[in-house]
Amino acid sequence: MIKKGKKMAWPRWDFFLFLMLGRMLLAQLSAASGTLTQSQQLSLNQTLVSAGNIFELGFFSPRSSKSLYIGIWFKNIPHQRIVWVANREDPLQASDSDTILKIGGDGNLIIMDGNQNIIWSTNISVQSNKTSAVLTDKGEFILKDDVTGSSLWDSFNYPCDTLLSGMNIGYNTSAGVRLVLSSWQAENDPSPGKFTSGLSVEMPLQGFTWTNYSRPYWRGGPWDGANFIGIPDVDKGYASSINVIVNKQQESGFLSLNNFNDSDVIIMVLKPSGLLQTILWVEELNAWQVTWEAPGNPCDVYGTCGPNSVCDKNKSPVCDCLKGFVPKSTDEWIRGNWTGGCVRRTKLLCEISTSENTTNGYESDNFLQLREMKLPDHYTYFYAYDYQSCKEWCLNNCSCAAYAYPDRIDCMVWTSELMDVQQFPSDGVDLFLRLAYSELDHSLDEDKRKKKLIIVLTTVSSILILGILGYIFCRWKVNQRGNRRNRVEDHIPADKCQISSEMSTDNLWEEQALPKDSSELPLLDFAKLATATDNFSEINKIGAGGFGPVYKGKLEEGQMIAVKRLSSQSGQGIEEFKNEVLLISKLQHRNLVRVLAYCVHGKEKLLVYEYMANKSLDTLLFDSKKSHQLPWPKRFNMIQGIARGLLYLHRDSCLRVIHRDLKASNILLDDDMNPKISDFGLARIFQVTQELANTNRIAGTFGYMSPEYAMGGLFSEKSDVYSFGVLLLEIVSGKRNSGYYDHERDHNLLSYAWQLWTESNGLDLMDKSILDSDSSATVLRCIHIGLLCVQDHATDRPSMPSIVLMLSSEMDLPQPKQPTFIFQRWLNSDTQSQISKTQSVNDITVSVAEGR
Ligand SMILES: *[C@@H]1O[C@H](CO)[C@@H](O)[C@H](O)[C@H]1NC(C)=O
Ligand SMILES: *[C@@H]1O[C@H](CO)[C@@H](O)[C@H](O)[C@H]1NC(C)=O
Ligand SMILES: *[C@@H]1O[C@H](CO)[C@@H](O)[C@H](O)[C@H]1NC(C)=O
Ligand SMILES: *[C@@H]1O[C@H](CO)[C@@H](O)[C@H](O)[C@H]1NC(C)=O
Ligand SMILES: *[C@@H]1O[C@H](CO)[C@@H](O)[C@H](O)[C@H]1NC(C)=O
Ligand SMILES: *[C@@H]1O[C@H](CO)[C@@H](O)[C@H](O)[C@H]1NC(C)=O
Ligand SMILES: *[C@@H]1O[C@H](CO)[C@@H](O)[C@H](O)[C@H]1NC(C)=O
Ligand SMILES: *[C@@H]1O[C@H](CO)[C@@H](O)[C@H](O)[C@H]1NC(C)=O
Ligand SMILES: *[C@@H]1O[C@H](CO)[C@@H](O)[C@H](O)[C@H]1NC(C)=O
Repeated sequence: MIKKGKKMAWPRWDFFLFLMLGRMLLAQLSAASGTLTQSQQLSLNQTLVSAGNIFELGFFSPRSSKSLYIGIWFKNIPHQRIVWVANREDPLQASDSDTILKIGGDGNLIIMDGNQNIIWSTNISVQSNKTSAVLTDKGEFILKDDVTGSSLWDSFNYPCDTLLSGMNIGYNTSAGVRLVLSSWQAENDPSPGKFTSGLSVEMPLQGFTWTNYSRPYWRGGPWDGANFIGIPDVDKGYASSINVIVNKQQESGFLSLNNFNDSDVIIMVLKPSGLLQTILWVEELNAWQVTWEAPGNPCDVYGTCGPNSVCDKNKSPVCDCLKGFVPKSTDEWIRGNWTGGCVRRTKLLCEISTSENTTNGYESDNFLQLREMKLPDHYTYFYAYDYQSCKEWCLNNCSCAAYAYPDRIDCMVWTSELMDVQQFPSDGVDLFLRLAYSELDHSLDEDKRKKKLIIVLTTVSSILILGILGYIFCRWKVNQRGNRRNRVEDHIPADKCQISSEMSTDNLWEEQALPKDSSELPLLDFAKLATATDNFSEINKIGAGGFGPVYKGKLEEGQMIAVKRLSSQSGQGIEEFKNEVLLISKLQHRNLVRVLAYCVHGKEKLLVYEYMANKSLDTLLFDSKKSHQLPWPKRFNMIQGIARGLLYLHRDSCLRVIHRDLKASNILLDDDMNPKISDFGLARIFQVTQELANTNRIAGTFGYMSPEYAMGGLFSEKSDVYSFGVLLLEIVSGKRNSGYYDHERDHNLLSYAWQLWTESNGLDLMDKSILDSDSSATVLRCIHIGLLCVQDHATDRPSMPSIVLMLSSEMDLPQPKQPTFIFQRWLNSDTQSQISKTQSVNDITVSVAEGR
């Protein structure tokens, strides 16, 4: 049962289990190493503690239980939480005080009761009989062969109800391995309960909680490389905490927990009620905080509404048949028993035509676009070149009931009943549902066409029928096209923008469904924009984004806007423009500029942004007369804001986006000098499976480009981190990296910053006029972080989550390595030889002063 309306109240105190045994009496077995050797044994009043004092292993007895178990728990977290149980199926009597854990004569770990009976054993064959057991700081209990040093048995291969970081659940089909979390029977009974959680063996794999090992209870939906797309509201701490690694050949898939900082304690627990939770230990609150849980509402329970229906938690009743479907049993449905689900109201044409040969005179089936959906279960995945071929495959196979083409997954089709469909308020995926023609909304004048058909059918011979039908079909398509265009134009002004063919939402196969990549942004009229910006006058020019100038404008209604005009000679093609429009409209964050509308006019492409009163950062930062308007606290706030915006792009947004052209002129400032990142035109959807992707065209701005990007066109999140580091140092110094080059000392901004920092003169980098004594520590910290970001090797650079953490905490920072890449040099001459020269010079002069 689901607890209805369960709120994730915060803070949530989660007292779980307390040991019944007085902890005072417990003595640590071996003080240092967490090791149990063959000569030792663990009795009731003793525990084994891991080397770093993090985990503890010993006997415990759950509250009000008479059974005794060996378990592992966190040593230093007061509310005792058992994370692993050895003999969960073979309990001991709590009254048996002579129980011991030891290594038996055959080298296996055994639990013996007072009568010398072996209650539990690791039960493996040990070649040499010399073994020892170690409890590690990850909470892993390992039986090791002392002769070879290899691990013979590992508690992580026998998960209970808790997933610790470092531990995996999932499958490896080639090794025949299947690891699942398995709930306790009850809060005080660790024996295996009703529920298990793990990953399904399919492509793409899904996260599941099952009852009885096989019946789905909750489904997280397919893994798209970054998220389970059946779980909405991903930024509630969930997305960043889960990681799934799938083997290329789909032989294995394992889920693990991410913790960006080892001192964070994050675990995943499957409760006896079937609730799967990720919980975080919050030191300051001295409590466990639930960061995510599922199922969170009745719709999350698998199959609540039965097949071919849709569950919407915000509706009452929650269940409804999909459009074009009716309840299988109306009586049961009205009674609130939805398990029978729904069936098609109108047969599909393809079903009729095969059985009755009556294709003539009927319109073909088509698709209805359902937005923001949790995709159904039981899909078939296949590689399709684009959504169009996915759609055609579905249309051509009568058993295909729906298709979808989610980002980063590609073509999914359903050839059986549609199970476990949910309507999300947001964060869902488009599902294209196949329906008979008559079930689809037709605003067209059908009568006229029918009349025409009847006349044709009754008067012309059968050979002519085909020809005329073909003619009508074509005519109808043309009409259809005209009709749709009129509809689109309904909500734009009379003197409308020309829709270029690529941007057009038109499409021969489309009926109800718009193409996947159509934008929902309003299309604005070019003349209106020209008026608003005084014909794009120089006076209104407020900056230059990636591929064209940006103008200030004022709409007739009084609203201020910024218009980015991508001139025809700009490098940005229609493809990139579409890409940008699509991406930007999906990405919304405090530190990202919002796009309000767009316009295509002949070769002109324009984007309408929200207006930023303080223009772009470069206009203030690099102007010695204006830079005093940016005192350090504002700059620091700016650095943090940009970092958060970038973190959102990289990790937290619905897409994983690499900006690829981060620079001062792409940072716009609002009234309060809050930074907003603009221009994601170059951003590509980041395929998580490929760490580094090859791009066919190098774009970006010299001075901000990482070595690997500039030299090889390789980009990754870490290339953005490099640009961020350059930007950070520019914000600190008020100097451009690309404009700053000291020929005498062979310095650019980065090497200058490095030199000052290693000489402990970091503060010299900063404009003294805006430096106050209070800020020197954060200035130095920022320079340190900046230098970490501009290291030559992408792997050395921190990720955005770490950077955000570094900026907001006092944590110790690693030492950066010297940045050796100086782009000015290779700009002037042959790329490769110059680079290798720079690097070899630095290989020789290795003696670099240690930074402080
Ligand atoms: C633990 O219990 C054993 C026997 O049950 C006893 O011999 C030993 O002294 C106890 N050790 C401690 C530290 O209480
Ligand atoms: C290990 O095996 C050897 C002989 O195979 C035996 O002599 C020795 O006692 C065994 N050690 C233990 C701890 O059982
Ligand atoms: C453990 O050993 C017992 C007794 O030898 C055997 O019956 C059982 O099948 C073994 N279990 C496993 C999991 O190997
Ligand atoms: C899966 O098992 C195979 C065979 O044992 C092994 O080679 C492979 O490394 C395993 N894969 C993973 C991801 O553990
Ligand atoms: C659980 O599954 C087993 C076999 O898979 C079956 O025999 C048993 O009846 C099932 N129990 C329930 C409650 O569905
Ligand atoms: C719900 O309806 C199904 C058939 O649709 C039926 O088999 C089942 O018994 C019904 N359950 C209840 C509780 O009425
Ligand atoms: C449908 O047409 C096929 C050939 O096109 C024919 O073999 C079949 O008998 C027809 N079925 C009916 C029910 O007319
Ligand atoms: C249609 O799909 C089903 C199920 O995937 C498949 O068995 C069948 O071969 C397909 N038919 C065609 C004509 O592709
Ligand atoms: C993790 O965070 C703690 C404080 O929250 C800090 O002391 C520690 O240095 C951090 N460790 C790493 C590896 O970032």
